[in-house]
Amino acid sequence: MPAERDARTDTEAQPSPLAVGVLVSGRGSNLQAILDAIDHGALAARVAVVVSNRPGVLALTRAEQRNIPTAVHERRDFSSRRARDQAILRTLQAHNVALVVNAGYSAILHRSVVAAYRDRIINIHPSLLPAFAGGMAPKPQADALAAGVKIAGCTVHIVTEDVDAGPIIAQAAVPVLDEDTTETLAARILAAEHRLLPAVIGWFAAGRLQVTAGRVLGVPPAVTGG
Ligand code: GRF
Repeated sequence: MPAERDARTDTEAQPSPLAVGVLVSGRGSNLQAILDAIDHGALAARVAVVVSNRPGVLALTRAEQRNIPTAVHERRDFSSRRARDQAILRTLQAHNVALVVNAGYSAILHRSVVAAYRDRIINIHPSLLPAFAGGMAPKPQADALAAGVKIAGCTVHIVTEDVDAGPIIAQAAVPVLDEDTTETLAARILAAEHRLLPAVIGWFAAGRLQVTAGRVLGVPPAVTGG
């Protein structure tokens, strides 16, 4: 039937979507945002594997529920951080990962992994870098509140050997309200993260991004959220 032929031709014409490897350590709400964006057709990518440095975390459950391959590489199972990260690298390569996304990943990647995926590892950090770099959530959000800033937000950047200091790809800003606690501010920032991270992966997949002299070009203007 012509309709069937057309459908098959369409399928064959599709370029294979970008294979993303997501590194997680905990709740996995950013992983969920990526999966939801893919499901809704808003992101042309596929999550090829989810790697955690901690067993039993919710992020792994989210992946398993979708039959996405998972791997756990705990530091204590290896003689060194480098050995653990080489195992992570082998897992990523075994799944033909083209882009690595640190989505709430709590460890610092060994330089050998950074080199193997140069300019192809991104991280989301819950502050407007370079302000409030370092530390895991909720420290950056608490620090922003304590500093009295009126605008907070999140940053997606390329991972380099220097923690939270790689080229900035995109940022989303949110207001800080008088009545905010660390929890309410973190929740507002997290909602912005869930919009920003899938968008950045989409730009990467579309080949929009260029890294030139420490700056990332080709990105649409700043995303803001409330
Ligand atoms: C997020 O706030 C992210 O910016 C930070 O860690 C948190 C991870 O949250 N790096 P989740 O695991 O994605 O829910």
